[in-house]
Amino acid sequence: MLQVHDGLQDVLACKSGICRIEMVDGRAILEYRGYDVHDLARNSSFEEVAYLLLFGELPSKSELEAFVEELKELRELPPQIIGLLTHLPPFSHPMVVLRTAISYLGTMDRYIHHKSHEKSLQKAKSLIAKFPTIVAHFHRIRTGQNLIHPSDELNHAANFLYMLHGAEPTKTEAKALDLDLILHADHELNASTFAARIAASTLADIYACVVAATGTLMGPLHGGAAQRVMEMLREIAVPWRAEEYIRMKLESGERIMGFGHRVYRGVMDPRTVELKALAEKLAKEKEEKWFEISKAVEEAVYKYKGLLPNVDFYAASVYANLEIPDDLFINIFALGRIAGWTAHIIEQYETNKLIRPRALYIGETGRKCVPVDRR
Ligand code: ACO
Repeated sequence: MLQVHDGLQDVLACKSGICRIEMVDGRAILEYRGYDVHDLARNSSFEEVAYLLLFGELPSKSELEAFVEELKELRELPPQIIGLLTHLPPFSHPMVVLRTAISYLGTMDRYIHHKSHEKSLQKAKSLIAKFPTIVAHFHRIRTGQNLIHPSDELNHAANFLYMLHGAEPTKTEAKALDLDLILHADHELNASTFAARIAASTLADIYACVVAATGTLMGPLHGGAAQRVMEMLREIAVPWRAEEYIRMKLESGERIMGFGHRVYRGVMDPRTVELKALAEKLAKEKEEKWFEISKAVEEAVYKYKGLLPNVDFYAASVYANLEIPDDLFINIFALGRIAGWTAHIIEQYETNKLIRPRALYIGETGRKCVPVDRR
């Protein structure tokens, strides 16, 4: 008997060796390739995590140096992509721009359909390296500022902030973004990664798979939540208004962005723990307001609905304190998640079975088609 699982909730759709999420003794465990995310957050960099996701092992010192150099060499955009970014309407959402640029990159890859392990890794590295440049360049173009070319001196996170703001970030700012990218790098079969794997299961090219993932990430129930969290924090404006605001929203049946999770039900998302600590650290050095409002919102949502914050919730105040514009928040998520997406696409290619579930038909049956002039 085929059974419907709405939203594919609690369905195991494939086997994967990339990311483990498991509840153990009432606590959520999140591991990338067997390494606890808290451990990685404390002892590694985004580049090390991207390497881990793609290659399955943490890099040695020399492997890391070579990987970092390779990413640096791949950061610059072809002039055609810069031309595209210049021609797109400046009011376009930066996620729409990102997915358009990815698709355009595909047109420039002569070997777009090659899917050997080596070729796929090369494409993955190129996408990971170019994502920050696309996002930063478009932002500067749309705001009428000069382009800042990638710096060979800076790591992945610091270089993005440098290309975005035109000034080198402080050590704290660079480390904050680096940690954020680690925490967003992968999360098993979330909606965008699943979209990427569905596309990969048809043996579509890697750019098509990443476009599918990017489009899926954008929705407010997934990566789009952080931008809405910030809009809510701005509306609340002061911590003492949070409780009343949340009570009224919940009473009117609205969802509070940044709360609830399909997998972590009644259990704290391990990434939220790290992001909250990071948001607090940044707040002490920069603006405290957003963190204070966030804490008040967290308390109110728990009081009235018993829900816990997800990864997007404290990401909002972190990004605000890194002076990242609200409509780039989803893109920042994508800068981290591209590492996971590409690792999953490669895994899908190499263990492939077409993903093609069934639907339970609930419409009418057996109707007769009468020619149009007699209908
Ligand atoms: N605000 C208010 N109520 C909520 C929220 C929320 N954010 N999230 C869940 N609920 C309630 C639902 O109304 C439902 O209540 P009910 O049983 O009284 O009807 C119950 O909690 C279960 O919710 P579901 O929608 O069944 O949970 P589901 O697993 O389908 O949805 C989701 C998960 C989409 C993340 C949901 O919690 C939500 O909409 N959150 C807000 C958007 C958000 O923050 N998205 C980011 C998720 S993390 C990520 O993608 C990176």
